[in-house]
Amino acid sequence: MERFKILISEKEIKKRVKGLAAEINRDFKNKHLYIIGILNGCYMFISDLTKELKMPITVDFMRVSSYGNATETSGVVRIIMDVSESLSGKNVLIVEDIIDTGLTMDYLIRTIKQKNPKTIKVCTLLHKKIKTRVNIKIDYCGFEIPDKFVVGYGLDLNNMYRNLKYIGYK
Ligand code: IMP
Repeated sequence: MERFKILISEKEIKKRVKGLAAEINRDFKNKHLYIIGILNGCYMFISDLTKELKMPITVDFMRVSSYGNATETSGVVRIIMDVSESLSGKNVLIVEDIIDTGLTMDYLIRTIKQKNPKTIKVCTLLHKKIKTRVNIKIDYCGFEIPDKFVVGYGLDLNNMYRNLKYIGYK
């Protein structure tokens, strides 16, 4: 396996994921949450995060593709797989691995809003704030990171390196 420099260690991720779950537990005490993970990148994060949640939850997934090359999005987003239940009147939490330009999340929020949920909250493990071009309210953010292309803990480069336990960069 190629070696990467460590940006965020396994230990730091574990601690922060628990912290994020505590914030969500506090805000949604005893309320049902409809959690929508954005595939593929969210799979490791959503697994660890949901294990720490104490309210009743439903876990669902969406898959979107954004046209572009390996490391840059074009902003044109297409839904490949949609949620499986009605979102009407539900408390929705979108779980994403990373918000970079923000174009994907902006599109997701607009699309999910059309399904009339009661509330929509956004949770992302990573945020490249310096690159974000649209105004998005991020309710739960794991780490603000610099403008580096990162891999690991679910994040890929050409569909590889998702299984690293840390977040790394070249
Ligand atoms: P956006 O630019 O915020 O629309 O990000 C779109 C998608 O690009 C994210 O959901 C990730 O799948 C991917 N992405 C952006 N930056 C990175 C990165 O540093 N590593 C791996 N994937 C990334």
